[in-house]
Amino acid sequence: MCGIVGYVGRETAAPILLEGLRRLEYRGYDSAGVAVYNDGGIQVVKTKGRIQALAQQVEERGGLAGTIGLGHTRWATHGAPSDVNSHPHVSANGRIAVVHNGIIENYAEIREFLQSTGVRFASETDTEVVAQLLEYYYRGNLLDAVTKVLHRIQGAYALGILCADCPDRLIAARKDSPLILGFGDGFHVLASDVTAVIEHTREVCYLDDGEIAELTADHCWVYDAYLRPVEKERRHVDWEISAAEKGGYEHFMLKEIMEQPKAVHDTITPRIRDGAVVLDELEFSTSYLKSLEKIYIIACGSSYHVGMAAKYVLEALLRKPVEVALASEFRYCNPIVSERTLALVISQSGETIDTLAALREAKRLGARVLSIVNVVGSTIARESDGVLYTWAGPEIAVATTKAYSTQLAVVDLIGLAFAKTMGTLGDEEYKALLEALERLPQQLEEILTHREQIQYLASIYFNHPSVFFIGRNLDYAVGLEGSLKLKEISYLHSEAYAAGELKHGTISLIEPGTLVVALAGCRPVFEKTMSNVVEVKSRGADVLGLTIAPLESAVGKVVDYTLTVPETHPLLLPSLEVVPMQLFAYYVALMHGCDIDKPRNLAKSVTVE
Ligand code: M6R
Repeated sequence: MCGIVGYVGRETAAPILLEGLRRLEYRGYDSAGVAVYNDGGIQVVKTKGRIQALAQQVEERGGLAGTIGLGHTRWATHGAPSDVNSHPHVSANGRIAVVHNGIIENYAEIREFLQSTGVRFASETDTEVVAQLLEYYYRGNLLDAVTKVLHRIQGAYALGILCADCPDRLIAARKDSPLILGFGDGFHVLASDVTAVIEHTREVCYLDDGEIAELTADHCWVYDAYLRPVEKERRHVDWEISAAEKGGYEHFMLKEIMEQPKAVHDTITPRIRDGAVVLDELEFSTSYLKSLEKIYIIACGSSYHVGMAAKYVLEALLRKPVEVALASEFRYCNPIVSERTLALVISQSGETIDTLAALREAKRLGARVLSIVNVVGSTIARESDGVLYTWAGPEIAVATTKAYSTQLAVVDLIGLAFAKTMGTLGDEEYKALLEALERLPQQLEEILTHREQIQYLASIYFNHPSVFFIGRNLDYAVGLEGSLKLKEISYLHSEAYAAGELKHGTISLIEPGTLVVALAGCRPVFEKTMSNVVEVKSRGADVLGLTIAPLESAVGKVVDYTLTVPETHPLLLPSLEVVPMQLFAYYVALMHGCDIDKPRNLAKSVTVE
């Protein structure tokens, strides 16, 4: 989604802004722009297309002088991707420039009002009303104009504002869209995402909803919506800059797939002590956990698929009902939630707006919220009653891989820890599951060393126009993720089905040459799954099987090719099975020449509903 970067200091702003925008590229965008104050006025360069094109235009203008400015990457919502719809947007007199993430919901009404006063709009965007409204309210006091605008607009926003009349300061404001302030020696930065600023500073603070910040080179003031000063807590970000670079890999996605053994290791190891899972971060009492009526898992996309796997795992370990909801549906389904509901919210970015809104709704209805989040200090993390971080490090590729794997690992840790507290798991079973969990990093390494085999199979199957993923139980949960990975980066049509459900309709699509990926690693349902595999095979499907090593020959008798993963505890199967699915999607997309790290129409962090 859109990205914001701002700089005020003593260095030339434009190169810093362009570099920040490059670091935000992974979020997905279709146009980009910068605004810099210099010599009494604001200069704006913006264009449809890539940052490279923007940088070239800046260069053609001889670079932009000036030590204060704003940059933006736009992911179009209101108005097509075009030069004129790109941000920054300036007010009619050219004195105020604005960058914005989010959506101004009442923009049409404000636009009409401003037009009735004679204002002429240059773009079709909702954002331009902010710039024009600022000019309308501005009477020499910028903060006063900003608060008036914020009280008038509705919707979600992270805003960066530059005014030629106050050329030593940037204004920032947020509601429902993340915004970070970074502190340096003689400069301040603002950004929608910490990766844009870690090159310059690791000291940051996160604006909360309704807050406004005023930044000069040497000072930072934060206010609430009524301009009362607010004390902000600073946080240190310890992500390495190298983690946000490709490090010799052709794509971030492959790098991040390869980082999974370490990411899972880093996520589980600090939480295992003396043969037991210890979740120091949480303060849920035994009586509270025992009193739970249900666990409601809320997430989107791949995080939702983790939730689908978690349902099987947590129900098996805790013997409590687990419901899994798409965050975008949760708010509108009149959910049955009480004080005895634990909402388990899963999100890599911690900023997905649907998930955040569902979290707030779950809290409003009385649930306590435990979140699994990768980005430290993100809004979902801050608004939860308890948070367990996935220590995956920054994930840059739009298609999630290492975050998915670490989320699964945290689910397993939760299952073990809660089962111990609730007394729902025998000592022997506990020990066996914990040992299997500790073996995962090494088993992941082993799968990754055989990736050429998956590349070979991708070269055989990459031209199939449509792919079905089938499996039962945890295999089905992994199939959902395998299918999403394939379609989001290779643009092939694919669907995941519970294997037993296929014959209730979808099997009519299976014909000679249809590719079916059959996940058959789940021992308790193995025979049942294989019956369904035989059904598609006998209708002429090409079948690629995925199973655990001990079942290879049984699967191999039915399917065309078999991939295997090492045997593990049955509840941990998704952690291993997902890796060949990620690699398969990656290599198929590679053969199609797709833009793997930045697939079309997609954004890393989805901050609009
Ligand atoms: O940051 P989140 O985990 O909340 O994001 C949820 C989805 O947008 C995300 O998983 C998305 O489906 C990815 N593109 C999947 O690869």
